[in-house]
Amino acid sequence: MIAKAMSILDIARNSIDVNLLERIACKVRRRIEWSYNPGSRLEQKHLDPAKLIDRFERYQKITGVEINFEDKRVLELGGGPLLGWAYLAKARGAAHYVFNDMALNESLIHTDKAKRYFAEHVKLINQYYKKTLSSDLIVDNFLELSNEKAEELKIKNASVDLVISNSFLEHPNDPLGVFEELKRVLAPGGVQYHFVDFSNHLGTFDPFEKLYAVPKENVHDVEPTLNGLRVSEWLALAEKAGFNQSKFVPYLVESESLSSIVNADESWKKLGNNDLASRCGWIVIS
Ligand SMILES: C[S@@+](CC[C@H](N)C(=O)[O-])C[C@H]1O[C@@H](n2cnc3c(N)ncnc32)[C@H](O)[C@@H]1O
Repeated sequence: MIAKAMSILDIARNSIDVNLLERIACKVRRRIEWSYNPGSRLEQKHLDPAKLIDRFERYQKITGVEINFEDKRVLELGGGPLLGWAYLAKARGAAHYVFNDMALNESLIHTDKAKRYFAEHVKLINQYYKKTLSSDLIVDNFLELSNEKAEELKIKNASVDLVISNSFLEHPNDPLGVFEELKRVLAPGGVQYHFVDFSNHLGTFDPFEKLYAVPKENVHDVEPTLNGLRVSEWLALAEKAGFNQSKFVPYLVESESLSSIVNADESWKKLGNNDLASRCGWIVIS
């Protein structure tokens, strides 16, 4: 019986195009992921109270980028389920904070799990920045929650001085729409700092494995939530949206001799190796 099943499996394996199967599986996965609301539960990765502080300080120290929060009206985009850098911004002197994520589920913020996380997070913030914040930002006028898509924010024109995001910009389906919306909500002199992760998001040793192997327009087949834009494309989009100063400040650049880069599909190669090797860093726009 088992032998019979094994031989049927062997026949199937030999007669089916594995690549085709993989592409179908990716398409199914993409459909499921887009219909599944990531705001419906808290995962362990969201509940580390030190992670966001450590990440922010590390980004600043390694890149030399200093974000000034003092008296700023801040907008954080795609901040995840648990208020992202809101407490950190408050500790660093921000005046107001709009916390956005299209999957934001406010009821999660009031769960016991989240409350324990906030209490511990604020304790660390207070230790690190020598402050005495309470964890009650939610009832404070400081915080405003926004669960719209970043392309369609409800906030007023010119009402924000500083936009920040971490690992968000690589996800929106309509990247130009996001920048056009930011052009609308940013006050004159406003600045944006987006920390972007250009990897394949698959956790592979070579961070671009599979990604550069497929034509650029098929990037969704590799990782359903990525838009696949590289540094030069972001800077060009920022210009198109009307921002006249933008730059990339790298945090980590991989070797151009990575096999994924050397063997990249032509559609990626035309961006240039320098661009393909950028693994993560700040897109800074003013
Ligand atoms: C990789 S997570 C990053 C979360 C958090 N910033 C962090 O560093 O842990 C990307 C987040 O962006 C949100 N997102 C993706 N596209 C979005 C859009 N168009 N508008 C608003 N949020 C979006 C997702 O819901 C998700 O929570």
